[in-house]
Amino acid sequence: MVNVEELGEGSGTHVVTLSNGKVNALCVELLDELHAVATALAAADPRAVVVTGGPRVFAAGADITEFAERGGEAPFALSGSEDVARIGGSFLRALNAVAALPCPTIAAVNGFALGGGCELALACDFRVASDAARFGQPEILLGIIPGGGGTQRLARLVGPARAKDLVLSGRMVGAAEARAMGLVDVVVDGEPAAEGDKGVPGDALEAALALAARYAKGPRASAALAKRAIDEGLDGSLEAGLELEQRLFVESFGTDDATVGVESFLRDGPGHAAF
Ligand code: COA
Repeated sequence: MVNVEELGEGSGTHVVTLSNGKVNALCVELLDELHAVATALAAADPRAVVVTGGPRVFAAGADITEFAERGGEAPFALSGSEDVARIGGSFLRALNAVAALPCPTIAAVNGFALGGGCELALACDFRVASDAARFGQPEILLGIIPGGGGTQRLARLVGPARAKDLVLSGRMVGAAEARAMGLVDVVVDGEPAAEGDKGVPGDALEAALALAARYAKGPRASAALAKRAIDEGLDGSLEAGLELEQRLFVESFGTDDATVGVESFLRDGPGHAAF
């Protein structure tokens, strides 16, 4: 259900592809696999990771069939709290593992990224979307709330009012609106519909791979420290964040990246370091 492939041996750029039925429903088994994949990738010194789904659906959220027990007297008896906590726990572990990857991560979104699908995209550093992509947190329409970070990562990214609009209405937004609110970083345009055809949607994967290739050229250890400083810093006060930055700034001078980068600048000028 979760395929991972390195683009060219030793490139350090990995593509994680979800594949589960018609809509890539994020069932517990898939989430646990994603957790294992992200944990293994973190230990493999990655340079960049692209997460993607299918051409029509990135992921349509939690597997709703796991929310109820069919059969018995009531046809749709809701799952008990223990089962629901198991689902939520799998989301938390998997998406935290993706968020903690020590390299730039990019969600390449073609089609629907709904509920947990949107939350998985939010756990990545960047979101590249096809012009045909649709984002949303429709949990409220099921009478529940997001359980994969949708109330937290979304609010931190786009601000509380926009997050509340999406989470409380359950409405979907297209790529352009998602871009305008800061949910999406890059929109890839396709070919607009002409008379007699439906047009061709933009390909987010190709653009995400190009972005990953750019990041993959950069220094690994210092990129990991910079990402950590931003992510962990935003979790606390400005004062604590600035202190964390100081610690990691000093730590960055102990990396090989600093030796290569500073030496290269002093010897050859800017832009020549090969990390
Ligand atoms: N979990 C489990 N199954 C799902 C699903 C989900 N999150 N989303 C869709 N499916 C299933 C449908 O039940 C349908 O199954 P079937 O073919 O056996 O009848 C199949 O996937 C295709 O969905 P369908 O609605 O027919 O396709 P569509 O192209 O008209 O719409 C979506 C696609 C994704 C927009 C729509 O299915 C949808 O809104 N899904 C729910 C999204 C959601 O609420 N996610 C949050 C979960 S907490």
